[in-house]
Amino acid sequence: MMHHHIMTRISSFWFLAAGTAALLASCDMLPQRPTPKEQFFLSEVKPILEHNCLVCHHTDSHPSGLNLTGPRAVVASRRGRAFVVPGRPNASLLVTAISRSGSHPKVMPRLDMSLTEDQIAVLREWIQDGAAWPGGARGRLVAKANPER
Ligand code: HEC
Repeated sequence: MMHHHIMTRISSFWFLAAGTAALLASCDMLPQRPTPKEQFFLSEVKPILEHNCLVCHHTDSHPSGLNLTGPRAVVASRRGRAFVVPGRPNASLLVTAISRSGSHPKVMPRLDMSLTEDQIAVLREWIQDGAAWPGGARGRLVAKANPER
C-alpha cells in the first residue's frame, strides 16, 4: 500500500514537471538568454537600423527587396547580391550601400545623409562576427524617431 502511494506521487511529479516545461516552451515564456553575438546585435546594431533604416525598409514590397523588420534580412538578396554575407562585410550589399556618400543616387540612409564612422564600424563588425539576429519578439525591428534629423 505504502509503496503504491510513493509511486503515484513520483509519477505525478514528473507528469507535472514535463507538462510545465512543455507549456513554458510553447508559450515562449522562458526565452533563451541571448548569446554574446545576439546581445551585440540587440544593443548596438538594432538601434542603428531602427533609427536610420526602418522608416523605409519595413516591408517585403520595398523597392530594394530589403525588409529589415526581422532575421530574414540576413538571407535576402537583390539581383543575386546578398545584402548580408556573414563573415564578409566587404561582400555585403548593405555595407556597400552605407559606405556610399555625398550625391551617389543610392547612398543609404538617404541622399546627403550617411551613418557616422562609428555606426558603420558597428555594422561591419556585426557582419564580420556572423551577423547574428535572434528570432522572436527581440529580433523584430520597428521604426524609431531619429533625434539627429
Ligand atoms: C528614405 C528612405 C530610405 C532610408 C531611410 C533607407 N533606405 Fe535603403 N533604400 C531605399 C530605396 C528607395 C532603395 C532602392 C534604391 C534604388 O534601387 O534605386 C534602397 C536601397 C537600399 C539597398 C540596396 C542598394 C543597392 O545598391 O541595390 C540597401 C542595401 C539599403 N537600401 C540599405 C539601407 C540601410 C542599411 C539603411 C539605413 C542605414 C537604409 N537603406 C535607409 C530607401 C531608404
